[in-house]
Amino acid sequence: MSKEIVVSGIRPTGDLHLGNYFGAIKNFIAMQETHNCFFFIADYHSLTTHPTPENLHGNVRSVLANYLAAGIDPEKATLYLQSDIPETAELYLFLNMNAYMGELARCTSFKEKARKQPNNVNAGLLTYPTLMAADIIIHKAQKVPVGKDQEQHLEMTRQFANRFNRMYNVDYFPEPQAFNFGAQLVKIPGLDGSGKMGKSEGEGNAIFFSDDPKVIRKKVMRALTDSGPTELNQTKPIYIQNLFTLMEVVSTPDVVKKFDNDYNNCVIRYGDLKKQLAEDIVSFTEPMREKIKSIISNDSYIKKVVEMGREKAKESASKTINEVREIIGIKRF
Ligand code: TRP
Repeated sequence: MSKEIVVSGIRPTGDLHLGNYFGAIKNFIAMQETHNCFFFIADYHSLTTHPTPENLHGNVRSVLANYLAAGIDPEKATLYLQSDIPETAELYLFLNMNAYMGELARCTSFKEKARKQPNNVNAGLLTYPTLMAADIIIHKAQKVPVGKDQEQHLEMTRQFANRFNRMYNVDYFPEPQAFNFGAQLVKIPGLDGSGKMGKSEGEGNAIFFSDDPKVIRKKVMRALTDSGPTELNQTKPIYIQNLFTLMEVVSTPDVVKKFDNDYNNCVIRYGDLKKQLAEDIVSFTEPMREKIKSIISNDSYIKKVVEMGREKAKESASKTINEVREIIGIKRF
């Protein structure tokens, strides 16, 4: 039996934080062992928000270094740049011919983006879902590991794939399904006392692997606490529970237990807890921080990885695009 094909795109938006790692990345690392994975940096997609050239290139580089350091193995998975495979752009063009204004304009992410950047509601934003569909079906993927926020896009991908099959009376593209690890995931809370760790939730909420130990200490020490419990075995408020949840990830069980006991006996000192948590986060992130540093300065390694990815992705994409041209009636003379 050949392995199931998985495709996932990574937005080149900068460095990884603990939340990314325990979310998407752990899944990617597990899937590369069991599936035929195509992971790509979505640099075409990022043009919908007009980054500057230096910005874009730098972000692509650092995202690559972060993912490699985290354990994406370019020998096992195909790790490539979206823009290295213009076959995707060609398939995007074909799909756009059968994608309708109404369905694209109804898409939630489009409406949200249009609200956020009212002076730049470009056609790329509108057709974001057709490009994403092209990314996925160019490799005839069966599975797409995505979060809830991408489910509508995936539904549109199925719609475009089925429409193609119907229009040309072929059974060519499979229907890609979401790969949802949901329940198995540890949700990493942020440091601001609200919900999950994310970079859009504001400065200081997320801990990046690339953060300097000094920065990590500062972020942790600034986390929200209060004057402490007043009754034995009191339920922890969410922002305190969040600190314990982080501790469960990075500290030893003994340490967690000690602070938990202190909390329950109303003798906890949040200053001590934060100091301990900060040091444990620093040690936990240390190996990745070092790896990122060494990869980011290793131009020839990055180049080699990108070339290897391009070659593998090209093989799969050019096969699809040749067959698609044939189906559509664009034939060689
Ligand atoms: N839209 C995805 C995101 O915002 C990124 C992405 C682009 C993607 N193309 C994809 C994800 C294809 C999965 C498959 O995170």
